[in-house]
Amino acid sequence: MKAKIITITNNKGGVGKTSSTLNIGAALTRKGYKVLLIDLDAQCNLSSCFGSQNRPKHHIGSFMLKESSPNDCLVQAHNMSLIPASVELPEYETKIQNKPRREDILGNRLVSFHEQFDFILIDCPPNLGLLTTNSIFAADYFITPMEASTFAYNGIAVLMEQMREFIDSGARIEFLGLLIIKYHENARGSQKKSIVSAVRESLEEGVFQYYIRTDSNVDKAQLDQKPVFELDDTCNAAKDYMNVTTEILERLKL
Ligand SMILES: Nc1ncnc2c1ncn2[C@@H]1O[C@H](COP(=O)(O)OP(=O)(O)OP(=O)(O)O)[C@@H](O)[C@H]1O
Ligand SMILES: [Mg+2]
Repeated sequence: MKAKIITITNNKGGVGKTSSTLNIGAALTRKGYKVLLIDLDAQCNLSSCFGSQNRPKHHIGSFMLKESSPNDCLVQAHNMSLIPASVELPEYETKIQNKPRREDILGNRLVSFHEQFDFILIDCPPNLGLLTTNSIFAADYFITPMEASTFAYNGIAVLMEQMREFIDSGARIEFLGLLIIKYHENARGSQKKSIVSAVRESLEEGVFQYYIRTDSNVDKAQLDQKPVFELDDTCNAAKDYMNVTTEILERLKL
């Protein structure tokens, strides 16, 4: 069966794209699936969790421009494979700008991995530039992580409208779900709850049933360059990521 390609997209920064890519990927491997992660962000946050340097010889930019062969790009860790990013990605993005069918380059290059993996998860940069556009045209589904805050909520309607425009212009991508992260019940809990109910009202079953609770283990694990499961697979975030991954598989009827 062809790999399911899921892009983790939100044009806002710091909303949990990288944490969710890493931890959903790790949860999928724990369920026995073969997973490839792709780092499309020149910040290289996901790549650093695989011990990749900021300027690897082979990276997603050189892969897209066919300067690197597919297998030369793969880095292994945590029972997963990764195609790393590079701080040089902006220069590659400029080169890609001048290519024919420039938004289809990533999708076309990923065909060589369709049989080798069950899932390909793409970690996007915090913008809707050409690299994110490539991920949208390459992917079958998108997941949008969102922090439970008013500002984040206000951006969601705009993002959904932009995704609609991609679909209208030919992207064959479906919305898989909105993932609420950094959820916690504290003094401001009632405010967070009202944001969550507002987002549920507008997106209905589009919002995943499970939230990712605020858990310092997510950050600690990333500093340690590993998924949260490898730090403590009984912590809240580990349980939540596992539950959301089960929900993802249900939504995909797998
Ligand atoms: N459930 C959580 N609990 C506590 N901290 C979290 C949680 N999820 C993510 N974080 C932390 O929030 C910060 C931002 O998360 P992350 O890097 O995943 O966001 P991002 O959307 O990829 O950011 P960017 O747009 O810069 O790429 C990180 O320091 C991360 O460790
Ligand atoms: Mg990130």
